[in-house]
Amino acid sequence: MGRISWRSPSNIALVKYWGKKPVQIPANPSLSMTLSRAFTETTLEFRPCSQDEKGPGLEFWFEGRKQPDFEKKIAAYLDSIKQELPFLSDLHLVLSSRNTFPHSTGIASSASGMSALGLCLVTLSASFGGPEPGSADFFRTASRLSRLASGSACRSIYGGYTIWGEMKEIEGTSDEYAVPVPFTVHPVFQDIRDAILVVSSREKLVSSRGGHALMEGHPYALPRYRMANDHLLQLAGAMQTGDMEEFVRITETEALNLHAMMMSSEQSYILFEPGTIHIINAIRRYRKETGVPVCFTLDAGPNVHMLYPGKHETAVRQWIDDELKQYLENGQWIDDHIGHGPVMR
Ligand code: PMV
Repeated sequence: MGRISWRSPSNIALVKYWGKKPVQIPANPSLSMTLSRAFTETTLEFRPCSQDEKGPGLEFWFEGRKQPDFEKKIAAYLDSIKQELPFLSDLHLVLSSRNTFPHSTGIASSASGMSALGLCLVTLSASFGGPEPGSADFFRTASRLSRLASGSACRSIYGGYTIWGEMKEIEGTSDEYAVPVPFTVHPVFQDIRDAILVVSSREKLVSSRGGHALMEGHPYALPRYRMANDHLLQLAGAMQTGDMEEFVRITETEALNLHAMMMSSEQSYILFEPGTIHIINAIRRYRKETGVPVCFTLDAGPNVHMLYPGKHETAVRQWIDDELKQYLENGQWIDDHIGHGPVMR
């Protein structure tokens, strides 16, 4: 019997993962920034199964309430990793989770939620011969197990910037798990802020799972995968030399590429809202007029992640209040920044 708790942050991809092969292997490598304030805290309580119970037994609570839909998904996930973690079959697990970011703000919670779960499971596995908590193997295993639950979750295991997906040019990278970027990041990128501008909190039309599937047979899939590879190499270069202009160019192109794939797939769909486009245009205008290197990126949704160096914090916050708030649902935005990665509680 026991209890394990992890707090794990969300992450935002600069080079996007979009399209996959079985089992949750990315069609192209991605590079992300781990956030700080947008995190999930998950507690795992475990005890032996009761005599007539077939393990793993599971109860899933989200923000104090039972969540049968999530519970089913997590039960299926646990079942899928039972071979690797056979001790699960003898246990009854109670998972309780909460997010710091307001529920239903349209902010992807699978990265933070599934990485927190992966970390809890690997910590539990240490009592059954698994990797020693805190070791390199521990984090690698947590990243791999998180990936199996949700691809982008594997990148949340480390702070700073991480890469997921094998690239022969970048040593240590793998399709199976994410790694911290294996180079020194220029100081200008070590204090990047992310103002998450909530345009709409409505549930998205097409799930990420559906979106990834639409990349199969997509007429632009191969050029897109090639472009993501090129962008990743160029971004890695810019991050080492401190080339902000290049960082801005690649980050914005990647965001629009992702949405271009959705708009041009066989079953086309648009996740932008009018406010998304107003904000994108306003960001480009503000950058040109002030010289402040703000840029945007997008997840699979209408909300805008506005990235900028910390030294411009006061001016940018004022500008959000003065100009961008009109496009935000209930004026909502989350003031986040690059983070140090998960912590055990
Ligand atoms: O991890 P998934 O399957 O929810 O896919 C996420 C894909 C994007 O968020 C759109 C891009 C990314 O790399 O995080």
